[in-house]
Amino acid sequence: MSVTLSLPRILRVGRGAADELGEVITGLGLSRPLLVTDAFLAGTGAAERLAETLRGAGAHPRIFSGTVPDPTTDSLAPGIQALHEHTADSVIGFGGGSPMDTAKALALLGVQGGHMRDYKAPRVNLGPALPVIAVPTTAGSGSEATQFTIVTDSASDEKMLCSGPAFLPLAAVVDVELTMSMPPRLTADTGVDALTHAVEAYVSRKANPFADSLALTAITTIGRHLRRAYADGGDGPAREAMMLAATQAGIAFSNSSVALVHGMSRPIGAHFHVAHGLSNAMLFPAVTAFSVPAAPARYADCARALGAATAEDDDARAADRLVQALRDLCTDLEVPTPAAHGIDKDAWTRLTPLMAEQALASGSPANNPRVPTAEEIESLYARIYA
Ligand SMILES: NC(=O)c1ccc[n+]([C@@H]2O[C@H](COP(=O)([O-])OP(=O)(O)OC[C@H]3O[C@@H](n4cnc5c(N)ncnc54)[C@H](O)[C@@H]3O)[C@@H](O)[C@H]2O)c1
Ligand SMILES: [Fe+2]
Repeated sequence: MSVTLSLPRILRVGRGAADELGEVITGLGLSRPLLVTDAFLAGTGAAERLAETLRGAGAHPRIFSGTVPDPTTDSLAPGIQALHEHTADSVIGFGGGSPMDTAKALALLGVQGGHMRDYKAPRVNLGPALPVIAVPTTAGSGSEATQFTIVTDSASDEKMLCSGPAFLPLAAVVDVELTMSMPPRLTADTGVDALTHAVEAYVSRKANPFADSLALTAITTIGRHLRRAYADGGDGPAREAMMLAATQAGIAFSNSSVALVHGMSRPIGAHFHVAHGLSNAMLFPAVTAFSVPAAPARYADCARALGAATAEDDDARAADRLVQALRDLCTDLEVPTPAAHGIDKDAWTRLTPLMAEQALASGSPANNPRVPTAEEIESLYARIYA
């Protein structure tokens, strides 16, 4: 059986790469990018500095800073208007996963029109869409190298997974300097997101040797560097390692898939506004413990890559050690339970059946080694609450 692998046409990686964005854009024959970012990155002047490098290369950017964390369909409308007013020929996503995902959605809607829910999974979106150039400022989502965008339907609060090559950036500019300002909580949450991408890509039913190699490398790198970056945001080598691992994990899951952790995490984010990486972290140990019996050898490989087990441990023991290592990581990164995070128990219980339904509808649980029933998902939600 064959597998189709898709990557950005250009990956420009390294310190100072963002200063070369103008060259990347004009080298692709583009000149009128809409620079999509959020209020924070506009406020620090980082977006304007990027616009300046674009102007220096002869391009004519317009900044749109209306992205919201975990983009919603309502938040896209002013972006579409800005895209048309500027007669943009390309869209730059500058920020964490939220601005990059917004840029991807605008690039497609700007050409095809309609509503984002028309494009949600299981539909595979081939295009047409404007070219997207992604410039991440977190070491986490990997969106700079994935064929996905995730947008919440404002009408239903459903966090919709939309997929297909139409959302794959044409170029990604990956510059660790942009992540140095991340505070510890954001460093931890985005780092766990990247680790989840790598582990889920590796254990997925859609795993393949190409994605496997990147996933295992990313797991090893994150195991060595996430705690360091969390403890000291000024640790340049740790930041650099995390940045590379996040992009590698993005390529891995884009060419394999995520699985049950992500399927269950999106509804938590949508209904309770928990940061994406944090809701992954709340679920990661329990969902892994649930899933291990269906693929002990694959989880054992992850454990060894993470440094949680050795070659001497048999698969069952190594897989158990992975679950414990994930619990320890969550403790060290001060991950709260939903209860400790302040989520109301009644609301959690009341929304659990809907969250389970939405998790299943996203398709991600079907890629899990152990495919859960709705009841099993509900009981996992109950188990992790406190
Ligand atoms: N498309 C994909 O493949 C994919 C994959 C994973 C996650 N996602 C999505 O990405 C979103 C999460 O992205 P994220 O976790 O990167 O965060 P984000 O983009 O939502 O940003 C979170 C916060 O961090 C701030 N921030 C960003 N960079 C910073 C920096 N360098 N220094 C200080 N603050 C900074 C932002 O301004 C914002 O306030 C979710 O909506 C998630 O669903 C998408
Ligand atoms: Fe994620």
